[in-house]
Amino acid sequence: MSQKVIPVILLGLGNVGSTLLRQIIDTQATVARRKMLHLVPIGLADISGVLFDPEGLSENTLQAVLHAAANKRLLDTVTQTRTLDDLETLIPARAIVADVTASTETRSRLQTVLAAGGGVVLANKNPLIGSWQAVQQLFGNPMLRYECAVGAGLPVIDTLHYLLDTGDQVHQIEGCMSGTLGYLCAELERGIPYSQIIAQAREQGYTEPDPRDDLSGHDVARKALILARTAGWPLEMTDLAVEALYDESLVALSTEEFMAAADTLDAAYANRFRQARAGGHTLRYVAQVGPEGGTVKLRSVPQDSPLGTLRGPANYIALRTQRYADLPLVISGPGAGPEVTAAGVLGDMIKLAQQIV
Ligand SMILES: NC(=O)c1ccc[n+]([C@@H]2O[C@H](COP(=O)([O-])OP(=O)(O)OC[C@H]3O[C@@H](n4cnc5c(N)ncnc54)[C@H](OP(=O)(O)O)[C@@H]3O)[C@@H](O)[C@H]2O)c1
Repeated sequence: MSQKVIPVILLGLGNVGSTLLRQIIDTQATVARRKMLHLVPIGLADISGVLFDPEGLSENTLQAVLHAAANKRLLDTVTQTRTLDDLETLIPARAIVADVTASTETRSRLQTVLAAGGGVVLANKNPLIGSWQAVQQLFGNPMLRYECAVGAGLPVIDTLHYLLDTGDQVHQIEGCMSGTLGYLCAELERGIPYSQIIAQAREQGYTEPDPRDDLSGHDVARKALILARTAGWPLEMTDLAVEALYDESLVALSTEEFMAAADTLDAAYANRFRQARAGGHTLRYVAQVGPEGGTVKLRSVPQDSPLGTLRGPANYIALRTQRYADLPLVISGPGAGPEVTAAGVLGDMIKLAQQIV
């Protein structure tokens, strides 16, 4: 049997995108031996533009791009690029496009790829977040895979599909899906003040530049919505009640003003954790969703429960279904990090390549 060549295009060359490119190069011999596939990068895009060669970008070009990405330089500093708008006309039929951006603008481009018979892999959640009407077709499309949109490389989406394909019915999905908020809760439990945890986490790059982007709970809500829609529940974002981990009064502040005012919340959060501790409980930021909607909020859980003992960037997702009714099916492990996320995207690309050939 001869090796099948599959052209691949990466949108985004940040932490995940550049790691993915390196993994594609490093695993070429393994993928050829195990799957008889040759994934050939023909296009790379960031916000500065697109590098494209239908025959495959040269080894020298790929190495130069990796070097630039490691130094936070954009593609147009490596060589002349085409515009992002050119991309749609350049992508060949039956190519695989990986969206590893955090952009809200890629959905229509990806729909064009799917319509041309290509495959799409997402680490980016945004294309799956619009109204149900706008995204319904994406969830039903077998050429779109999005394992890494929730729980990074953990097999959450695949598990949901396997349960549904074998006739199970999902009743409830519950879990902790944010490493950053998991860290915040574990530190609050240790008695560290809220403002100090946030300042440290921000300094070490564990939060977004504005920590409110994590603390708003919106990112967790997006993950919960994707899981709900995968489970077959056509929910909207408004069906989820989301508790932000900061006060309404701090919404309008600039980032630096927020950081300066964060200590006004120290006593309130310390109190909530103290009260939970008194009853043998602790608090975790938990998403819980069912067919009718759900909540994303701080929940009181027993200290010795699986959620109560969760630490650091670990994610924990429990699926209660008709078959897994008394004991849920649990998926747990690191839910962030460029290596595991890129490997999950690469795994999805290989599965799609097998479907294409
Ligand atoms: N890191 C993780 O552990 C992890 C885990 C699971 C899922 N994800 C998801 O994976 C995606 C990438 O994460 P990351 O950590 O790699 O983020 P990142 O470092 O910010 O990288 C995103 C990259 O995409 C570029 N970009 C933005 N809009 C674009 C567009 N329209 N076309 C092409 N490129 C564009 C960005 O350029 P600029 O920086 O110049 O805007 C940046 O280089 C995100 O959606 C994230 O939520 C990440």
